[in-house]
Amino acid sequence: MPRDGLTDHLDGALVARHGPTLIGCAAVECYDDAGLLRSVAVDAAHRGRGVGAALVRAAVELTRRRGVRTLYLLTMSAADYFARFGFRTVSREEVAPAVQRSAEFNGVCPATAIVMKLDLQKETSMTQRSSSSGTIKDQVRDHYAQRIQSGSCCSSVSGSGDGTPTEIVLYGAETIAALPTGVVTTSFGCGNPVALASLRAGEVVLDLGSGGGLDVLLAAQRVGATGYVYGLDMTDEMLAVARRNAERAGATNVEFLKGDIENIPLPSNTVDVIISNCVINLTPDKALALKEAFRVLKPGGRLAVSDIVIDGDLSRFPVSEDQIRAALSWVGCIAGALTVEEYRTLLSDAGFTDIAVTVQHRYTINDVPLETSADLTALPADVVRDLAGCFTSSAITARKPQ
Ligand SMILES: C[S@@+](CC[C@H](N)C(=O)[O-])C[C@H]1O[C@@H](n2cnc3c(N)ncnc32)[C@H](O)[C@@H]1O
Repeated sequence: MPRDGLTDHLDGALVARHGPTLIGCAAVECYDDAGLLRSVAVDAAHRGRGVGAALVRAAVELTRRRGVRTLYLLTMSAADYFARFGFRTVSREEVAPAVQRSAEFNGVCPATAIVMKLDLQKETSMTQRSSSSGTIKDQVRDHYAQRIQSGSCCSSVSGSGDGTPTEIVLYGAETIAALPTGVVTTSFGCGNPVALASLRAGEVVLDLGSGGGLDVLLAAQRVGATGYVYGLDMTDEMLAVARRNAERAGATNVEFLKGDIENIPLPSNTVDVIISNCVINLTPDKALALKEAFRVLKPGGRLAVSDIVIDGDLSRFPVSEDQIRAALSWVGCIAGALTVEEYRTLLSDAGFTDIAVTVQHRYTINDVPLETSADLTALPADVVRDLAGCFTSSAITARKPQ
């Protein structure tokens, strides 16, 4: 990408890394209350996996936090792409004068480039208005639709460090080997709720946010022909893959339902066991999702969930919790994570008893993209490491009283 004039007004440079490899970048120039987004690029081998979208969202967020009201960009070929983030095409005359004087507008980009503008004030109020419902769920749905279509799974827990793939660490080689090829690569979990659930033959199971259906298929093997397993997911693309996986596995005791975990499309008191893998953290209304889980469970029914949970005091770090959460996109499973105490409280408020939250895996900086945030990158390395260590993959179990 051309770099002329970039450093004169540079206010943030973002990079995306895959392990140690740099795979994408974006930069923001600031001119008082106007910003210019530049140099958004993703390595060809890593396109189609949402890396560019993550960079653009992070750049927009960074700019917003600088107090910038309007963000501009120039593009030769990607106007449709940027339109997805709310940028709209405008004439050069509509651009803030300081931005018009930038190097980018004066020769770095050809005069035929399309000018686009994003009104950050409007975007902020829209996000705030609907953050409790529509926006987050739409983003989550789009994110997982894109990931399953582009084949970019996987679990948000990294492998064992000795090269053993994550799915083998979570599920065991024997279990994985018994599944049709490819099923495991449609998994996005962070634990093994089927192992937690101690399923018995004949039980009725519901998987909240069943994704590609791996846990549904494993549960179906455990409950056998006399049992039944429902997978519930709101994303059409995920449901299509799950149904295909079930067909390939020859599973006849499973059914995938389209719907929201905050409004489960099943009658009350009909399910023996609820499982879920890395989903509750994604819902903007966790209290409602857990109340719904309680409603559909039979008296004495069990909940066995793997989820991202915060274990540690985020307030001891020299950045606000809001900044930490803003740095971690919601769709990456982390920003919406509950603390151990919050999980316990919500489960108890929903009516559950015998509640246990057990840390199974503590994240490291390699798992949690804290380094994509300017606020967090400014912190000493040991503080960032401690911060990453507050995020865990945990096992949550509870029971509906008889
Ligand atoms: C991290 S993936 C996990 C998928 C699956 N449990 C697994 O382990 O592979 C999250 C899944 O939950 C679904 N999901 C997220 N929020 C949901 C909601 N509120 N209602 C229904 N499904 C939801 C997404 O569509 C996606 O398939």
